[in-house]
Amino acid sequence: MKEMEQNFCAIYLSGTGNTKFCVEKFVNLLDETAPVFAIEDGAALSALEKYEYVVLGYPVQYSNAPKMVRDLIANHAPLWKGKKVFCLVTMGAFSGDGAGCAARLLKKCGASVLGGLHLKMPDSVCDSKLLKKSTGEKIELIRLAEEKIECAVLQIGSGKYPQNGLGFFSHLVGLFGQRLWFYGKTRSYSDRLKIDKSRCVGCGVCESLCPMKNLTVENQIAVPHGKCTMCYRCISHCPHRAITLVGKEVVEQYKLKDYIS
Ligand SMILES: Cc1cc2nc3c(=O)[nH]c(=O)nc-3n(C[C@H](O)[C@H](O)[C@H](O)COP(=O)(O)O)c2cc1C
Ligand code: SF4
Ligand code: SF4
Repeated sequence: MKEMEQNFCAIYLSGTGNTKFCVEKFVNLLDETAPVFAIEDGAALSALEKYEYVVLGYPVQYSNAPKMVRDLIANHAPLWKGKKVFCLVTMGAFSGDGAGCAARLLKKCGASVLGGLHLKMPDSVCDSKLLKKSTGEKIELIRLAEEKIECAVLQIGSGKYPQNGLGFFSHLVGLFGQRLWFYGKTRSYSDRLKIDKSRCVGCGVCESLCPMKNLTVENQIAVPHGKCTMCYRCISHCPHRAITLVGKEVVEQYKLKDYIS
């Protein structure tokens, strides 16, 4: 299936940089001229109309695809018909069928799924102590992910797509390992984003970054509007650590650029 190497675009959701980094590395190795779009970029939909082959990148959330990614598929079902899609999925620890979650939706829309790649990267949940790693461990995880991307690209070059997270067994692992118990967390957009009014100075950084346009600054305070896709981008960038979602306080803001040269 060498044809993907000549005629594809990539679309990704990335809150804190992991998925963007992995998608860009993957695309650069396959064809450095292929266009890459953030999901919130209006041009992503035009690219979807134009290209037959699509790399779809996203971070796993509670062993599911983020709501914004599921909506990109479900709300534009006719655009996906006939597409050949490769799902690239990043995760902090474990997902089972992270790639399978979007793959099943894509198939319902008439797309075919060429393959899936699961990449373990540092965890992005800034307001939880769970899964936190040292700087050295994070750098090593990223190096291993880069190696895995290089292997996947070699494999694709020889006509075989990796199939991470797409098989029946992976589906069971994803479902029973986590999704079944946490499905409520990703069923819809979250209205749980909290702004600490004593910390927020109304600088607008969060408003300018949110891919969902879920935040506006009103009377010098950021206000969320209940359509958070839980990407953690605002939380990792707020200069005053005023935003939380899962936890009660920011433990460690995570930005991938701090760990790559
Ligand atoms: C709300 C949320 C839920 C997450 N759930 C999982 C999970 O179930 N399994 C896992 O391995 N990683 C999980 N992660 C970690 C991210 O998938 C991982 O850090 C990812 O690489 C972040 O990508 P990004 O920097 O492109 O946003 C979760 C992250 C967030 C923000
Ligand atoms: S980035 Fe932080 S301080 Fe700035 S407006 Fe948003 S919540 Fe407030
Ligand atoms: S409000 Fe923050 S965490 Fe939620 S989608 Fe927007 S940037 Fe991401």
